[in-house]
Amino acid sequence: MDLKLTNKVAIVLAASKGLGKAVALALSAEGAKVIIGSRDEVELSKTAKAIQKITGNEVIALPVDVSNGDEITNFIEEAADTFGRIDILLNNAGGPPFNKFENFDDVAWQKAFELNLLSFARTSRLVLPYMQKTGSGRIINIISGSVKSVLASSVLSTSMRMGVVGMAKLMADEFGPYNITVNNVAPGLILTDRIKHTLPKDMDPEEAIKEKTKSIPLGRLGKPEELAALVTFLASAQASYISGTTIQVDGGANRSIF
Ligand SMILES: NC(=O)c1ccc[n+]([C@@H]2O[C@H](COP(=O)([O-])OP(=O)(O)OC[C@H]3O[C@@H](n4cnc5c(N)ncnc54)[C@H](OP(=O)(O)O)[C@@H]3O)[C@@H](O)[C@H]2O)c1
Repeated sequence: MDLKLTNKVAIVLAASKGLGKAVALALSAEGAKVIIGSRDEVELSKTAKAIQKITGNEVIALPVDVSNGDEITNFIEEAADTFGRIDILLNNAGGPPFNKFENFDDVAWQKAFELNLLSFARTSRLVLPYMQKTGSGRIINIISGSVKSVLASSVLSTSMRMGVVGMAKLMADEFGPYNITVNNVAPGLILTDRIKHTLPKDMDPEEAIKEKTKSIPLGRLGKPEELAALVTFLASAQASYISGTTIQVDGGANRSIF
C-alpha cells in the first residue's frame, strides 16, 4: 500500500531513541522528510544519521527540550524554515516518574504538566498555521494505555494524558474543517529503555519481563516498530477520515470493553 508520505514533512519529538525513534524511522522509510527533536544533541544526531543511512531520505536533527516554551518556539520555526512546510506532528516526550499520589508535590505536578501536556499544546498551536496553509495535516500524540485502565503509581502520567485526550477531541472538532486530523496512540508495554528502567531492581530483568507479559493476551511485550506502524498509518492519506480517536497498541492488555 502506498501511504502517500513521499516528501511529506514530519516533525517527530522525543526521537533520539525508543518510540519516537521507531516512528521517525518508519515515516522516513515511507519517504517522508523527517525532523527529529530531543535534548541530547549527540544521541539525536547519531539517530538522524542512522535513519538516513537505512532509508536514504533526509533526516534533520534539531535539539529541543519540549518542556521549555522558548526552545519549542525556536524548534518549530527552524523546522518550518528547513523544508518550507509541516504536514505531520508526532507529539511525544519523556515519561513522568511513577509513584503513589501522596508522594508528589507541586513541583512534580508542574514538571509533569509542562512535559506531558503543555508541550503538546505548544507544539500543536505552533504547527497549526502551517497545516492550515496547505489545507491538511496530521497531529498524533503518544500517550499511555493508562487512559483506558488503571495503572498503579501512574497518577502524573494518567492525569496529563487524560488532558491530552480531551485536548485532542477539542482540536479534532476545531480543526476538522481544515482537513487536519488529531489522534492519540496509547502504548501498553513496548520494550524501550523507559520500560527497562521501570523493571523491579530486585529481580532478574528477563524474569521481570516474563512476569509482566503474563497479563498480556499476546504473551509478550510490544516492539517499538509495532507502535510506529500505527502512527505511520494515522499519518497517511488512507487515514483521512480518522480523527479524535485514542487507539491502544497493547497486545490486548486493556480488558475494558469501551
Ligand atoms: N514504552 C512504553 O511501553 C510506554 C508505555 C506507556 C507510555 N509510554 C510513554 O511514551 C513516551 C516515550 O516513551 P519511550 O518508551 O520511547 O521512552 P524512552 O525510550 O525512554 O525514550 C524517551 C525519549 O524522550 C526524549 N526526551 C525525554 N525528555 C525529553 C524532553 N524534555 N524534551 C525532549 N525530548 C525528551 C529522550 O531523549 P533525550 O534524553 O535526548 O531528551 C528519548 O529520545 C513516554 O512519555 C512514555 O511515558 C511509553
